[in-house]
Amino acid sequence: MPLTDTPLLRALAGERPDRTPVWFMRQAGRSLPEYRDLRVGTRMLDACLTPDLAAEITLQPVRRHGVDAGIFFSDIVVPLRLAGVDVHIEPGRGPVFADPVRTAADVDRITAIDPAGLDTSAIVEAVRLVVAELGEATPLIGFAGAPFTLAAYLVEGGPSKEHLRARALMHTDPGSWNRLAGWLAQVSRTFLDAQHTAGASAVQLFDSWAGSLSPADYRAFVAPHSAAAVDGIGAPVIHFGVGTGPFLADMRLDGRADAVGVDWRQPLDEAAAVLGGDVTVQGNIDPALLSAPWPVLEAHVRDVLRRGRAARAHILNLGHGVPPETDPAVLTRIVELVHGVVAEPVDAAAPQDGPLQDGPLQDAAR
Ligand code: CP3
Repeated sequence: MPLTDTPLLRALAGERPDRTPVWFMRQAGRSLPEYRDLRVGTRMLDACLTPDLAAEITLQPVRRHGVDAGIFFSDIVVPLRLAGVDVHIEPGRGPVFADPVRTAADVDRITAIDPAGLDTSAIVEAVRLVVAELGEATPLIGFAGAPFTLAAYLVEGGPSKEHLRARALMHTDPGSWNRLAGWLAQVSRTFLDAQHTAGASAVQLFDSWAGSLSPADYRAFVAPHSAAAVDGIGAPVIHFGVGTGPFLADMRLDGRADAVGVDWRQPLDEAAAVLGGDVTVQGNIDPALLSAPWPVLEAHVRDVLRRGRAARAHILNLGHGVPPETDPAVLTRIVELVHGVVAEPVDAAAPQDGPLQDGPLQDAAR
């Protein structure tokens, strides 16, 4: 089967394959004992830049769970490291920058680095290894951080709750903000292009912290830069954010996104109604339910699948990443469940569906 006929790529093209494709954000990582074993003694960003290690970690969840896609093992801050920025990932915390970028002079200094000049050879080599191993059956998804989410770390200097400094910069010095976000868009674009050219079949742009923005600020200060990061990339684009319900339609990036990722807060049928009929939805199992008793989780997964039929096509995923303490057997069981459920055509499925307002708990009680 050529890659274009795989369920993931068909769903991204707007078709309804025989089975709903499923993969999990953060499927590679601490929920897997084989990952924890491999990572002993190697720091996160060093692991990302060691091609055979990054390739093996990418393949682990594909082998274990039988998911419909690999997601390249890397991190949103890897291209910044390649640009020479002093960043490391603190375990249990996240990316930390030695020199936060806060003033116009800071922005001048960092944007003087040419994003086209990054040495992406380690990324290219790792992606090639993965793609050779996956063959024609399973596509690889490449990814990058969206400019706002990267700026939320870079301006603050590390993780923050409300990303106040980045949001303040938009209003105190819009010129510096736009230069910084424009530069970050090019850095992420270089990272995406490297993965795509080396063989990734689709790309996902992560704007994990966009939910802290007002719709007006998202439209004025963020969406144009995210659009630039993926414009004309030549691969299907998935655009994901958390808490983006108030401006979900903007996440389509004026048609540049082939699929929009929806978090767990918004039922997929409601999201599909907002997004319209010409975009695929991805999501949105509540990560909190991964630790619930199986009958409760199963009913929730079935409910997500049913609501997903309201869209032109659906890629099953979580509403955000796999929590590290997740029992990996639960993820495998979800894949088996999803692959066992025949995705009926929208029209044929509609009459026997029952009311959409049934919650997962009611379903479980039956
Ligand atoms: O399986 C996959 O999804 C692929 C790998 C992947 C990682 N990071 C590996 C990783 C992806 C797609 C990312 C993207 C990423 N990185 C995002 C966007 C996705 C999201 O979750 O919202 C963000 C916000 C980051 C920044 C980042 N990197 C955070 C917040 C952390 C967690 C820090 C911690 O220890 O809790 C990281 C580190 C990181 N990235 C880990 C992994 C597997 C954990 C590092 C470890 O194993 O020690």
